[in-house]
Amino acid sequence: MIPVIMAGGSGTRLWPLSRTAFPKQFLALNSQLTLLQETAARLDGLSDAAPLIICNEEHRFLVAEQLRQQGKTASIILEPVGRNTAPAIALAAFQAVKEWQAKGSEQEAPVLLILAADHVIKNTVAFQAAVSQLLPAVQAGKVGTLGIVPTEAATGYGYIRADNEQNGLYAVEQFVEKPDAATAQRYLDEGAALSGEHGSRQWYWNSGMFMIRADRYLEELARFSPAMFAACELAMADTQQDLDFIRINKEAFEQCPDDSIDYAIMEPLCALESAEPQVVVAPLDAGWSDVGSWSALWEIADKCENGNAVLHSGAGEAKTILKDTRNSLISTQQRMITTLGVDDLIIVDTLDAVLVAHKDKVQDIKSIVAQIKAQG
Ligand code: GDD
Ligand code: MG
Repeated sequence: MIPVIMAGGSGTRLWPLSRTAFPKQFLALNSQLTLLQETAARLDGLSDAAPLIICNEEHRFLVAEQLRQQGKTASIILEPVGRNTAPAIALAAFQAVKEWQAKGSEQEAPVLLILAADHVIKNTVAFQAAVSQLLPAVQAGKVGTLGIVPTEAATGYGYIRADNEQNGLYAVEQFVEKPDAATAQRYLDEGAALSGEHGSRQWYWNSGMFMIRADRYLEELARFSPAMFAACELAMADTQQDLDFIRINKEAFEQCPDDSIDYAIMEPLCALESAEPQVVVAPLDAGWSDVGSWSALWEIADKCENGNAVLHSGAGEAKTILKDTRNSLISTQQRMITTLGVDDLIIVDTLDAVLVAHKDKVQDIKSIVAQIKAQG
C-alpha cells in the first residue's frame, strides 16, 4: 500500500493565518506538528512504503523541510499549476504504476491510500483499523472510502449513501458531491430515520480519503475523463528526478482539465449500473475534522472553562487577557490580545492582517479573500 498525500490546496478558509504562500496543511493548528506532519505520522505502523506527496512546486521546500524535521522520506511530485485532486492523484497513480512495473509487476498493482494533507484525526488507532478493514476489498479491485456520520447539513462535503453491510463494509449506492443545503438536510433526516433500523446511518459524509489500486484509478480516469488521463500521461512521460522531487512536463499538465476526484470519478462510478457494488465505505469514528473553517478549529481545539481557545502561531507565547469572554477563538502571532464582554468571536492576529469575525459567519471568509485578490 502506498500512501498518497494531496498537499496542493490553498486553504483560504483559514485566512489570514493560511496564505497562498503558506497554506493550512503546513500550519501547526492543534499540536506541535503541522497538519502535513500529522498526516505522515498517522501512517506509522500502517505502511512501510514512503509516501508520494503531490504539491505545488512553490511549496516544495516547505514539504521537504517538514518531512526532514520528522526524519521521514517521501517522493514529492511537483505540480507547476493546480488542477485539483483528480489530476493530482493521477500523477501519483502513474508514478506508482511506473515503479511497480520497474519491479517486474509480478504481484497485483499497489493500492493507493489517498489522504488529504490538511485533516485532523484524533484517534489514529481507529483510522488505521478502518484502513486495514478496507484493504482486502480494495486489493480485490473495489474502491474504498472512509465515511463520517454526519452531524449537520453541511454543504462543503460529499455525501455517500451506504447500504447492504458485508463484513463491516457498506456498498455505496450513491455519491453526491457538495449538495445544496436543502438536499443535505434531506439526507440528514433520512439518516436519522434509518439509524435504528440499520444500526448505522444511511448517509455518510465523504471524508475525502480514498483507497484504490493504482491501475484501477487510471482505468476509471480513462473511462470518465479521457482528456485528463491523456494530459497526465503526457505530463508523466518525461519526468525529472531532482533529489526527492519529481518534476513533470509543465506544458502537458497545463493542458489538463481541472476537476476533483469526487466529481470526475466518484459520482459517475457510483452512478453506474452494476451487479456488484464497485465502491464500499468503512465508517470512521475517529474524531475526524477537515478543519474547514475557524469555527471547526474552535470545535476541536482545547478550551478553557469559558469555552475560549487560544492559539499561538508565533515563536514566543504572546499574552492574552480575556475578560467576560466566552466561546471564542483567539489566534495570535506576536501582539498581546485583550477582550472584554464579547462572545462567539474569532480573532486572528497576524503580522500584516487582523480578522475579527462572528463565529457563525466564518464560512464567508472566502469573500474577503476574493476581494483582497481582486484589489491586488
Ligand atoms: N496536489 C494537489 N493539487 N492537492 C490538492 C489540489 C491540487 O490541485 N487541490 C486540493 N488539494 C488537496 C488539499 O490540500 C486537500 O488536502 C485535499 O486535496 C482535498 O481538497 P479540498 O479542496 O480541501 O477539497 P474539499 O474539502 O473541498 O472537498 C473534499 O474533501 C471533503 C472532506 O474534507 C471532497 O472529497 C469532499 O467530498 C469531502 O467531503
Ligand atoms: Mg478540504
